[in-house]
Amino acid sequence: PKVGILGVPFGKGGEITGAHNGPDSIRKAGLIDRLAGIGDDLEVKDYGNLEYDVIQGIDTTVPNMKNYHDIISCNQVLSQKVESILKEGQVCLALGGDHSIAIGTIDGHVRAKKDVSVLYIDAHPDLNTNKTSDSGNIHGMPLGILVSELSDYWPYLPGMDWQKPILSLRNVAYIGLRSVDPYERLIIDKLGVTAYDMDDVEEHGISSVISMALKAIDPEENRSIHVSFDIDALDSLVAPSTGYPIPGGLTLREGVQILEKVFDTGRLGAMDLVEVNPNIGSKEDVRRTVEAAVHLILAAFGNKRRGVRPKNETLP
Ligand code: ARG
Ligand code: MN
Ligand code: MN
Ligand code: MN
Repeated sequence: PKVGILGVPFGKGGEITGAHNGPDSIRKAGLIDRLAGIGDDLEVKDYGNLEYDVIQGIDTTVPNMKNYHDIISCNQVLSQKVESILKEGQVCLALGGDHSIAIGTIDGHVRAKKDVSVLYIDAHPDLNTNKTSDSGNIHGMPLGILVSELSDYWPYLPGMDWQKPILSLRNVAYIGLRSVDPYERLIIDKLGVTAYDMDDVEEHGISSVISMALKAIDPEENRSIHVSFDIDALDSLVAPSTGYPIPGGLTLREGVQILEKVFDTGRLGAMDLVEVNPNIGSKEDVRRTVEAAVHLILAAFGNKRRGVRPKNETLP
């Protein structure tokens, strides 16, 4: 396989500044070399950081959507970029940035591959609309914007005509939820969205949860899988350097196991690793958080904790 890495240094989807430094902090931990070290089967290409111009000449104020103008400008370019990376035959790894960038990455993935299912690993469902959000922060809305089931609940979104509601909640599974707003819970329950909250992980164990989640969103094993991994899905002891940490989350082992299993499907199409914020916490907090992010990524691209045998199977 080939991986195309795209940094998305965008942090205006949340209130706490610093997520825009995520991509460079993850690269600085040696991501590229460590990915290359997985083996000759993986080709690694770094596309650098996404650049975009803010769209001019339209009035883009929408109630209760902070930094709306920047978000639509960044995501339109991002969607095109992800589409083109995928069409070049690579798996796209997007380094965030906050979770509002999933609007562009998932949109681009669906444009390129059509039949896409999303594994959303997060403490939060990010399923708000501008009417249900308490914060007005758009990183709490990406799936709310993308899914067809909610399209009637939005006002007209100027400058977003390129984005059609292309994803159904039937093709989304959550793992790791533990901070769910009232209307998010209503949507998940009423529509029967596949959601393995932390209490479900405790009840069933992570291995069963992973197989049940994959079975629900990819029953015929023929869809392109999009993993959108918010680092705050991990316990805040493992990943403290993030804007909206919630205790009681996934262990790093559980996170790594999810991604090893996704790799084994052979159908990972794109992955987001978002909400790493190196401006938060001590040097050691940042190191630990970034290291966790790197381990998740390595597992998604074929690194095995059990090791791999040499190609030439004779002992020298
Ligand atoms: N539910 C809260 C909100 O809508 C928090 C969202 C946090 N999202 C995230 N990507 N960390 O504001
Ligand atoms: Mn999120
Ligand atoms: Mn989150
Ligand atoms: Mn549940």
